[in-house]
Amino acid sequence: MFSTPDRPPSSFVPPPSPPSDRASVLCGLAGWLPARAVTNEELSQRLDTSDTWIRTRTGISRRHFAEPGQATSDLAVEAGHRALRSAGTADVDAVVVATTTPDRSCPATAPLVAGRLGLTGAAAFDISAVCTGFVYGLASATSLITAGMADRVLLIGADTYSTIVDPDDRTNAIIFGDGAGAVVLRAGRADEPGAVGHFDLGSDGTGEELIMVAAGGSRQRSTPGEVDPQDRYFAMRGKEVYRHAVTRMTASARATLKLADCEVDDVDRLVPHQANLRILRSVVDDLGLPAERLVTNIDAVGNTGAASIPLALADAAAQHTIEPGERVLLTAFGGGLTWGSCLLTWPALSQTDPHDTGGTHAP
Ligand code: COA
Repeated sequence: MFSTPDRPPSSFVPPPSPPSDRASVLCGLAGWLPARAVTNEELSQRLDTSDTWIRTRTGISRRHFAEPGQATSDLAVEAGHRALRSAGTADVDAVVVATTTPDRSCPATAPLVAGRLGLTGAAAFDISAVCTGFVYGLASATSLITAGMADRVLLIGADTYSTIVDPDDRTNAIIFGDGAGAVVLRAGRADEPGAVGHFDLGSDGTGEELIMVAAGGSRQRSTPGEVDPQDRYFAMRGKEVYRHAVTRMTASARATLKLADCEVDDVDRLVPHQANLRILRSVVDDLGLPAERLVTNIDAVGNTGAASIPLALADAAAQHTIEPGERVLLTAFGGGLTWGSCLLTWPALSQTDPHDTGGTHAP
């Protein structure tokens, strides 16, 4: 800061910093699923698998697939529009889209989504943290708000895994589904219901090869003729991922509780990334949490990547499985490897059922 004769250095007043109890408060929530539901029976007709195998190994009965030509932004706009309506606002300062399946590798999907939601002018960027994307996005949105850089943020987790999973790969084709979930966060106070609390975030890049789409980036470009077509598909070393998912989500959940000075018993609902029902049950067991506190909708949607946690929240809120005032712990694990958890107290929200896919309502 420059000093002038009539303003000596001692008179410098720093720009107002946000109040120390300024918090990011959840005030809108919505989920959206593409209309096409794909049952295990349907998959069993073209893959060497069965309804029994899929249900017993993963807990999944059906998932939704986008129609050909339907992109991640199309799902994100639907969820985003509903979340804004749930929050009772048409205006935000930033739009964050967490996704592994952006419409294009360049540019980001968030500016397009913002534009289609009538939010041109808002800051807009994507988060790439695979299935941990929503929790990383929540941390980013919360940081924008608590730093005083934004008063309202729309955060959308959206993925169309059906566009990157090999339809003939029976291991992955049965797990993943498409969908979008969105939340609106506003500036508020730390003691309000909905205030997003402590976070634990982490990564381990030495596990990069466990979950990847090998081609299409700068390492292995998608030049026609130079790329093995198989390298354009999502690949996962399922057994190793399974073990990491259990240990990382459990450790991250514990670390978050420690930061918040809470005990496991203080958690009313655990909402994990919906990876595989057996994984979720192991996390609950390892944490020592009563089984009925687990929130899961994997049976009806499969693993929807970055959409998974907000879709599970929207389902649980619609079915009153989560009630205002309850302490909710979110935990996620994904490619990278990445993981993250977050604690919040559930607010009273108005929102719609993500399974009500009757038509599109976005502008
Ligand atoms: N239908 C029938 N059989 C199948 C199958 C399917 N859809 N997919 C795999 N199999 C077979 C395998 O070929 C293998 O056969 P083999 O014993 O003759 O070799 C057998 O089932 C066991 O395979 P395995 O990979 O050991 O099964 P699993 O119990 O580990 O389940 C996953 C496979 C992918 C469901 C499981 O590893 C998993 O859920 N991993 C984590 C996935 C995940 O959460 N990813 C996202 C993280 S963010």
